[in-house]
Amino acid sequence: MATEVDLQAALAHAIEWAQTAGTMIKQAWRSDGVTIEYKSSIDLVTEVDKAVEDYIMAQIKKTYPEHAVLGEESASAQGAYSLEAVPTWCVDPIDGTTNFVHHFPFSCVSIGFCIDRTPVLGVVFNPILNELFSAVRGGGAFLNGEPIHVSAATSIDRSVISTNVGFVRDAAGIEFILENMKALLTHNVRSMRSLGSSALEVCLVACGRIDAFYEFGIHPWDIAAAVCILREAGGVAMDPDGRPLDLTRRRILAAAPGLIEPISQALNTHPPFLPQ
Ligand code: IPD
Ligand code: CA
Repeated sequence: MATEVDLQAALAHAIEWAQTAGTMIKQAWRSDGVTIEYKSSIDLVTEVDKAVEDYIMAQIKKTYPEHAVLGEESASAQGAYSLEAVPTWCVDPIDGTTNFVHHFPFSCVSIGFCIDRTPVLGVVFNPILNELFSAVRGGGAFLNGEPIHVSAATSIDRSVISTNVGFVRDAAGIEFILENMKALLTHNVRSMRSLGSSALEVCLVACGRIDAFYEFGIHPWDIAAAVCILREAGGVAMDPDGRPLDLTRRRILAAAPGLIEPISQALNTHPPFLPQ
Protein backbone atom coordinates (compact mmCIF):
# COMPACT_ATOMS: atom_id res chain seq x y z
CA MET A 1 0.00 0.00 0.00
CA ALA A 2 1.29 3.49 -0.89
CA THR A 3 2.50 5.55 2.07
CA GLU A 4 0.10 8.36 3.00
CA VAL A 5 1.42 11.70 1.70
CA ASP A 6 1.03 14.84 3.83
CA LEU A 7 -0.39 17.11 1.11
CA GLN A 8 0.00 20.34 3.10
CA ALA A 9 3.68 19.61 3.67
CA ALA A 10 4.07 18.73 -0.02
CA LEU A 11 2.33 21.99 -0.96
CA ALA A 12 4.77 24.01 1.15
CA HIS A 13 7.68 22.30 -0.66
CA ALA A 14 6.10 22.84 -4.09
CA ILE A 15 5.53 26.55 -3.39
CA GLU A 16 9.14 26.97 -2.29
CA TRP A 17 10.42 25.18 -5.44
CA ALA A 18 8.09 27.25 -7.65
CA GLN A 19 9.31 30.50 -6.10
CA THR A 20 12.95 29.59 -6.64
CA ALA A 21 12.14 28.49 -10.20
CA GLY A 22 10.24 31.76 -10.66
CA THR A 23 13.34 33.74 -9.70
CA MET A 24 15.36 31.80 -12.29
CA ILE A 25 12.71 32.48 -14.97
CA LYS A 26 12.37 36.17 -14.11
CA GLN A 27 16.13 36.79 -14.13
CA ALA A 28 16.42 35.15 -17.55
CA TRP A 29 13.33 37.06 -18.77
CA ARG A 30 15.20 40.30 -18.13
CA SER A 31 18.24 39.21 -20.13
CA ASP A 32 18.44 38.93 -23.90
CA GLY A 33 20.97 36.13 -24.15
CA VAL A 34 18.86 32.99 -23.57
CA THR A 35 19.90 30.03 -25.73
CA ILE A 36 17.02 28.54 -27.72
CA GLU A 37 16.84 25.03 -29.17
CA TYR A 38 14.16 23.82 -31.56
CA LYS A 39 12.19 20.61 -30.91
CA SER A 40 10.65 21.57 -34.26
CA SER A 41 10.72 24.91 -36.10
CA ILE A 42 7.77 26.13 -33.97
CA ASP A 43 8.29 24.15 -30.73
CA LEU A 44 10.96 25.82 -28.62
CA VAL A 45 12.96 24.89 -25.56
CA THR A 46 15.51 27.12 -23.82
CA GLU A 47 18.41 26.58 -21.47
CA VAL A 48 16.15 28.04 -18.76
CA ASP A 49 13.49 25.30 -19.25
CA LYS A 50 16.24 22.71 -18.75
CA ALA A 51 17.87 24.42 -15.77
CA VAL A 52 14.51 24.88 -14.00
CA GLU A 53 13.51 21.26 -14.63
CA ASP A 54 16.89 20.01 -13.34
CA TYR A 55 16.46 22.12 -10.20
CA ILE A 56 12.89 20.94 -9.45
CA MET A 57 13.64 17.29 -10.26
CA ALA A 58 16.62 17.35 -7.89
CA GLN A 59 14.45 18.82 -5.11
CA ILE A 60 11.74 16.19 -5.61
CA LYS A 61 14.24 13.31 -5.67
CA LYS A 62 15.87 14.62 -2.48
CA THR A 63 12.58 15.23 -0.64
CA TYR A 64 10.47 12.36 -1.97
CA PRO A 65 12.87 9.67 -3.27
CA GLU A 66 10.02 7.14 -3.31
CA HIS A 67 7.86 9.19 -5.73
CA ALA A 68 7.83 9.03 -9.53
CA VAL A 69 8.51 12.15 -11.63
CA LEU A 70 7.31 13.23 -15.05
CA GLY A 71 8.95 16.35 -16.45
CA GLU A 72 8.45 17.86 -19.88
CA GLU A 73 12.08 18.12 -20.90
CA SER A 74 13.18 14.73 -19.54
CA ALA A 75 10.13 13.04 -21.12
CA SER A 76 10.80 14.81 -24.45
CA ALA A 77 14.44 13.71 -24.36
CA GLN A 78 13.37 10.10 -23.76
CA GLY A 79 10.72 10.32 -26.51
CA ALA A 80 8.06 8.49 -24.45
CA TYR A 81 6.38 8.62 -21.06
CA SER A 82 3.67 7.01 -18.99
CA LEU A 83 1.67 8.11 -15.98
CA GLU A 84 1.07 5.30 -13.48
CA ALA A 85 -1.10 5.10 -10.34
CA VAL A 86 1.90 5.57 -8.03
CA PRO A 87 2.43 9.05 -6.50
CA THR A 88 3.87 11.10 -9.38
CA TRP A 89 5.05 14.69 -9.68
CA CYS A 90 4.23 16.29 -13.07
CA VAL A 91 6.51 19.24 -13.78
CA ASP A 92 6.50 21.78 -16.57
CA PRO A 93 9.52 24.02 -15.90
CA ILE A 94 8.16 26.73 -18.21
CA ASP A 95 4.65 26.45 -19.60
CA GLY A 96 4.42 29.13 -22.25
CA THR A 97 7.97 28.80 -23.55
CA THR A 98 7.06 30.68 -26.76
CA ASN A 99 5.69 33.54 -24.63
CA PHE A 100 8.90 33.49 -22.59
CA VAL A 101 11.07 33.73 -25.72
CA HIS A 102 8.90 36.55 -27.11
CA HIS A 103 8.77 38.49 -23.81
CA PHE A 104 4.98 38.11 -23.66
CA PRO A 105 4.39 38.14 -19.88
CA PHE A 106 2.38 34.94 -19.66
CA SER A 107 4.62 32.02 -18.70
CA CYS A 108 4.73 29.95 -15.56
CA VAL A 109 6.31 27.09 -13.73
CA SER A 110 3.79 24.31 -13.12
CA ILE A 111 4.21 21.66 -10.41
CA GLY A 112 1.47 19.06 -10.05
CA PHE A 113 1.25 15.94 -7.94
CA CYS A 114 -0.95 12.96 -8.85
CA ILE A 115 -2.08 9.87 -6.98
CA ASP A 116 -3.95 7.18 -8.93
CA ARG A 117 -3.38 9.37 -12.04
CA THR A 118 -5.52 12.11 -10.46
CA PRO A 119 -4.13 15.56 -9.61
CA VAL A 120 -4.23 16.13 -5.83
CA LEU A 121 -1.88 19.13 -5.56
CA GLY A 122 -1.07 22.00 -7.89
CA VAL A 123 1.16 25.06 -7.88
CA VAL A 124 1.26 27.33 -10.95
CA PHE A 125 3.41 30.45 -10.66
CA ASN A 126 3.75 33.29 -13.18
CA PRO A 127 6.80 35.15 -11.84
CA ILE A 128 6.46 38.01 -14.32
CA LEU A 129 3.01 39.03 -13.05
CA ASN A 130 3.80 37.62 -9.59
CA GLU A 131 0.69 35.42 -9.51
CA LEU A 132 0.85 32.12 -7.66
CA PHE A 133 -2.10 29.73 -7.94
CA SER A 134 -2.23 26.81 -5.51
CA ALA A 135 -4.46 24.01 -4.25
CA VAL A 136 -4.50 20.62 -2.62
CA ARG A 137 -7.42 18.24 -2.87
CA GLY A 138 -10.15 19.17 -0.39
CA GLY A 139 -8.50 22.45 0.65
CA GLY A 140 -9.87 25.04 -1.79
CA ALA A 141 -7.98 27.01 -4.43
CA PHE A 142 -5.98 30.21 -3.97
CA LEU A 143 -4.36 33.03 -5.92
CA ASN A 144 -1.58 34.64 -3.88
CA GLY A 145 -3.25 33.23 -0.77
CA GLU A 146 -6.76 34.55 -1.54
CA PRO A 147 -9.57 32.06 -2.28
CA ILE A 148 -10.67 31.86 -5.93
CA HIS A 149 -13.78 30.54 -7.67
CA VAL A 150 -14.91 29.86 -11.22
CA SER A 151 -17.51 32.06 -12.94
CA ALA A 152 -21.24 31.39 -12.91
CA ALA A 153 -21.48 31.37 -16.73
CA THR A 154 -24.01 28.99 -18.24
CA SER A 155 -24.20 30.01 -21.89
CA ILE A 156 -21.62 30.36 -24.64
CA ASP A 157 -22.94 33.76 -25.70
CA ARG A 158 -22.03 35.18 -22.29
CA SER A 159 -18.62 33.53 -22.13
CA VAL A 160 -15.00 34.19 -22.95
CA ILE A 161 -13.40 30.93 -24.07
CA SER A 162 -9.72 30.29 -24.63
CA THR A 163 -7.90 27.71 -26.72
CA ASN A 164 -4.41 27.26 -28.17
CA VAL A 165 -3.34 26.28 -31.63
CA GLY A 166 -0.61 23.88 -30.40
CA PHE A 167 2.02 22.58 -32.80
CA VAL A 168 -0.02 20.83 -35.53
CA ARG A 169 0.32 22.52 -38.93
CA ASP A 170 -0.91 19.97 -41.49
CA ALA A 171 -4.04 20.78 -43.47
CA ALA A 172 -6.40 18.43 -41.59
CA GLY A 173 -5.14 19.67 -38.22
CA ILE A 174 -5.55 23.32 -39.19
CA GLU A 175 -9.06 22.58 -40.47
CA PHE A 176 -9.98 20.89 -37.17
CA ILE A 177 -8.74 23.84 -35.07
CA LEU A 178 -10.59 26.37 -37.23
CA GLU A 179 -13.76 24.26 -37.31
CA ASN A 180 -13.98 24.37 -33.52
CA MET A 181 -13.37 28.12 -33.36
CA LYS A 182 -16.00 28.58 -36.04
CA ALA A 183 -18.48 26.47 -34.03
CA LEU A 184 -18.07 28.69 -30.98
CA LEU A 185 -18.27 31.87 -33.07
CA THR A 186 -21.44 30.50 -34.64
CA HIS A 187 -22.82 30.02 -31.11
CA ASN A 188 -22.21 33.76 -30.69
CA VAL A 189 -19.38 33.34 -28.14
CA ARG A 190 -18.77 36.66 -26.38
CA SER A 191 -15.06 36.45 -27.21
CA MET A 192 -12.17 34.06 -27.64
CA ARG A 193 -8.55 34.13 -26.42
CA SER A 194 -5.38 32.22 -27.18
CA LEU A 195 -2.76 33.00 -24.56
CA GLY A 196 -0.10 30.31 -25.07
CA SER A 197 0.07 28.70 -21.61
CA SER A 198 -2.48 25.99 -20.98
CA ALA A 199 -1.52 25.80 -17.29
CA LEU A 200 -2.21 29.51 -16.80
CA GLU A 201 -5.34 29.44 -18.95
CA VAL A 202 -6.86 26.66 -16.81
CA CYS A 203 -5.98 28.81 -13.76
CA LEU A 204 -7.71 31.78 -15.42
CA VAL A 205 -10.85 29.63 -15.60
CA ALA A 206 -10.32 28.76 -11.92
CA CYS A 207 -10.33 32.43 -10.90
CA GLY A 208 -13.21 33.41 -13.20
CA ARG A 209 -11.28 35.74 -15.54
CA ILE A 210 -12.29 33.49 -18.43
CA ASP A 211 -15.11 30.96 -18.45
CA ALA A 212 -13.62 27.98 -20.26
CA PHE A 213 -10.50 26.61 -21.94
CA TYR A 214 -10.07 23.65 -24.28
CA GLU A 215 -7.16 22.20 -26.19
CA PHE A 216 -6.33 19.05 -28.13
CA GLY A 217 -2.65 18.07 -28.01
CA ILE A 218 -1.64 18.93 -24.43
CA HIS A 219 0.45 16.67 -22.12
CA PRO A 220 0.06 15.79 -18.41
CA TRP A 221 2.74 18.28 -17.31
CA ASP A 222 0.85 21.14 -19.02
CA ILE A 223 -2.33 20.66 -17.01
CA ALA A 224 -1.88 18.37 -13.96
CA ALA A 225 -1.30 21.18 -11.46
CA ALA A 226 -3.92 23.50 -12.93
CA VAL A 227 -6.60 20.77 -12.98
CA CYS A 228 -6.32 20.38 -9.20
CA ILE A 229 -6.56 24.18 -8.82
CA LEU A 230 -9.57 24.37 -11.15
CA ARG A 231 -11.48 21.58 -9.40
CA GLU A 232 -10.83 23.11 -5.99
CA ALA A 233 -12.17 26.41 -7.38
CA GLY A 234 -15.45 24.72 -8.29
CA GLY A 235 -14.65 24.09 -11.95
CA VAL A 236 -14.88 20.96 -14.06
CA ALA A 237 -12.03 19.39 -16.04
CA MET A 238 -12.97 16.59 -18.37
CA ASP A 239 -12.43 15.07 -21.77
CA PRO A 240 -14.15 17.37 -24.30
CA ASP A 241 -16.16 14.35 -25.53
CA GLY A 242 -17.79 13.93 -22.10
CA ARG A 243 -15.58 11.17 -20.75
CA PRO A 244 -13.69 11.57 -17.48
CA LEU A 245 -10.38 13.39 -17.92
CA ASP A 246 -7.44 11.12 -18.73
CA LEU A 247 -4.24 13.16 -18.37
CA THR A 248 -2.47 11.07 -21.00
CA ARG A 249 -5.22 11.33 -23.63
CA ARG A 250 -3.89 14.74 -24.63
CA ARG A 251 -7.14 16.73 -24.54
CA ILE A 252 -9.01 18.84 -22.02
CA LEU A 253 -12.12 20.92 -21.54
CA ALA A 254 -11.83 23.05 -18.39
CA ALA A 255 -14.85 25.17 -17.58
CA ALA A 256 -17.32 26.62 -15.14
CA PRO A 257 -19.78 23.78 -14.44
CA GLY A 258 -22.64 25.41 -16.35
CA LEU A 259 -20.63 25.52 -19.57
CA ILE A 260 -19.36 21.97 -19.83
CA GLU A 261 -22.37 20.58 -21.66
CA PRO A 262 -22.93 23.40 -24.19
CA ILE A 263 -19.25 23.55 -25.11
CA SER A 264 -18.88 19.78 -25.29
CA GLN A 265 -21.87 19.66 -27.64
CA ALA A 266 -20.55 22.46 -29.84
CA LEU A 267 -17.05 21.04 -30.38
CA ASN A 268 -15.83 18.42 -32.80
CA THR A 269 -14.00 16.09 -30.39
CA HIS A 270 -12.24 13.92 -32.97
CA PRO A 271 -8.93 15.60 -33.83
CA PRO A 272 -7.32 13.95 -36.85
CA PHE A 273 -3.89 14.29 -35.19
CA LEU A 274 -4.61 12.24 -32.02
CA PRO A 275 -5.56 8.58 -31.48
CA GLN A 276 -9.34 8.26 -30.89
C1 IPD B 1 2.60 24.55 -24.43
C2 IPD B 1 1.68 25.64 -24.01
C3 IPD B 1 0.79 25.99 -25.17
C4 IPD B 1 -0.01 24.81 -25.63
C5 IPD B 1 0.87 23.63 -25.91
C6 IPD B 1 1.80 23.34 -24.75
P1 IPD B 1 5.06 24.68 -23.53
O1 IPD B 1 3.51 24.23 -23.45
O2 IPD B 1 0.91 25.28 -22.90
O3 IPD B 1 -0.09 26.98 -24.83
O4 IPD B 1 -0.68 25.14 -26.80
O5 IPD B 1 0.05 22.51 -26.13
O6 IPD B 1 2.66 22.29 -25.09
O7 IPD B 1 5.64 24.08 -24.78
O8 IPD B 1 5.09 26.16 -23.57
O9 IPD B 1 5.61 24.11 -22.29
CA1 CA C 1 7.23 23.65 -21.14
